[in-house]
Amino acid sequence: MRSFIVSSVLLGLASAAVVPVVPEVVPRGKGHGHDHKKFNVQVGVRPYYLVDDMDESPLKKKLESCSEQEFKTSDFVFSHRGAPLQFPEHTLQGYTAARRQGAGVIECDVSFTKDKQLVCRHSQCDLHYTTNILNTTLASKCSIPFTPFNGTAPATAKCCTSDITLAEFKTLCGKMEGFNANATTAEKYMDGTPYFRTDLYSQGCPKLMSVDDYIPLVDSWDLKYTAELKTPEVKMPFDGYTQKQYAQDLVNKFYQYGVEPSRVWLQSFLPDDIFYWIDNEPDFGKQAVYLDERVDTPAGYDNATASIPELAKRGVKIMAPAFFALTKVDKLGKIVPSEYALACKKAGLDMVAWSFDRSGWLQIGGGGYYYDYVKNVTNNDGDMYTVLDVLAQQVGIKAIFSDWPATATYYANCFGL
Ligand SMILES: *[C@@H]1O[C@H](CO)[C@@H](O)[C@H](O)[C@H]1NC(C)=O
Ligand SMILES: *[C@@H]1O[C@H](CO)[C@@H](O)[C@H](O)[C@H]1NC(C)=O
Ligand SMILES: *[C@@H]1O[C@H](CO)[C@@H](O)[C@H](O)[C@H]1NC(C)=O
Ligand SMILES: *[C@@H]1O[C@H](CO)[C@@H](O)[C@H](O)[C@H]1NC(C)=O
Ligand SMILES: *[C@@H]1O[C@H](CO)[C@@H](O)[C@H](O)[C@H]1NC(C)=O
Repeated sequence: MRSFIVSSVLLGLASAAVVPVVPEVVPRGKGHGHDHKKFNVQVGVRPYYLVDDMDESPLKKKLESCSEQEFKTSDFVFSHRGAPLQFPEHTLQGYTAARRQGAGVIECDVSFTKDKQLVCRHSQCDLHYTTNILNTTLASKCSIPFTPFNGTAPATAKCCTSDITLAEFKTLCGKMEGFNANATTAEKYMDGTPYFRTDLYSQGCPKLMSVDDYIPLVDSWDLKYTAELKTPEVKMPFDGYTQKQYAQDLVNKFYQYGVEPSRVWLQSFLPDDIFYWIDNEPDFGKQAVYLDERVDTPAGYDNATASIPELAKRGVKIMAPAFFALTKVDKLGKIVPSEYALACKKAGLDMVAWSFDRSGWLQIGGGGYYYDYVKNVTNNDGDMYTVLDVLAQQVGIKAIFSDWPATATYYANCFGL
């Protein structure tokens, strides 16, 4: 979810015609509410481990009291890129794990290929560190080929979905996100999984997903969708492809498969994408999720907070900053809702938070980025649930993205969310 916006990116303001609704060519999806009775959700051992690790508190007691209950799918739980704490992101195997862990909503981050087909990748140019492309003949098509570490300059490469066609994309295999900047060979470069993740589920060839794979798959599970239009890392229009057409094409895919807009949460970091959907596809626009990274600096945070009433007036319904921005520590050392969260509440905006279980050990720097405003009171992994409880009960978030959906599913079921 965290995006790194390239400042040179130009929004496609060209006025090339946007092709709107594709006729319905596929029978309508099920989409008539969940019927998960026969599906055995499994949260595994991690939530129990985290609850055991909590400091004594009424919340810990409450969570312990739910240990033997049956777990069900929850729409409070948004799978973030599948289940990338342990499975290669945006792969069939990762989405399958997310479903088993009880995520009600499955995410596909959307990028486009050279032939302008939509695929699920966290960023347009991450193939060199999320797939095996550098170890294939397609490596020669990368925007920047692999260059080894030479003693001073780190190893580099840059491989984009827009460097290759959909057919070529489909020959690649997913891998755990990461790279080794000290590598002297491409194979060593690919070996960079962080200490708190694992390569255990990366053997074989984890299957990459196109949007045409993703939509029917999630429909067959009778789950819901969240699809993020990733900020292009190439200049738009790309070979005549405008930003608006890209935004429209994503909506058209859901029309093509007959998916009800109420089952879809589109997201973008680019306000113009959100406004485009509000203005042109209002059924999708009213559930569009405004990903807000203005909060990443203190001045930006203040500006973002001040802009909330205006965004509400513009038709935005859901704000989604990194979850650190929704809480703070008060004078007594308690974690409480932030000014930003209070501003959203006051303006009647819903909030969705990202991303849980993405930080490694909280004993290292209190958890880092995602715990930025509370990190001097977070120091053990059990504190994750303390923060989630404030987000759910006091901030009132509608959902949380998680890299390991089971952790959020356990909480959601315990509290009837
Ligand atoms: C390593 O590469 C960098 C960047 O290309 C270059 O400036 C530097 O001189 C190189 N160092 C060696 C030891 O080759
Ligand atoms: C990479 O090399 C630098 C300096 O040569 C070293 O400090 C660092 O620990 C190395 N990193 C890894 C991951 O090996
Ligand atoms: C690279 O490709 C070779 C040949 O297919 C294979 O044996 C090897 O395991 C691959 N390495 C990685 C890191 O994918
Ligand atoms: C905050 O808003 C002010 C006034 O509109 C603007 O001048 C400033 O650049 C903004 N700062 C950030 C970090 O967005
Ligand atoms: C957290 O750390 C900051 C900076 O050191 C300090 O100003 C603040 O009082 C601390 N808050 C708590 C609750 O300890």
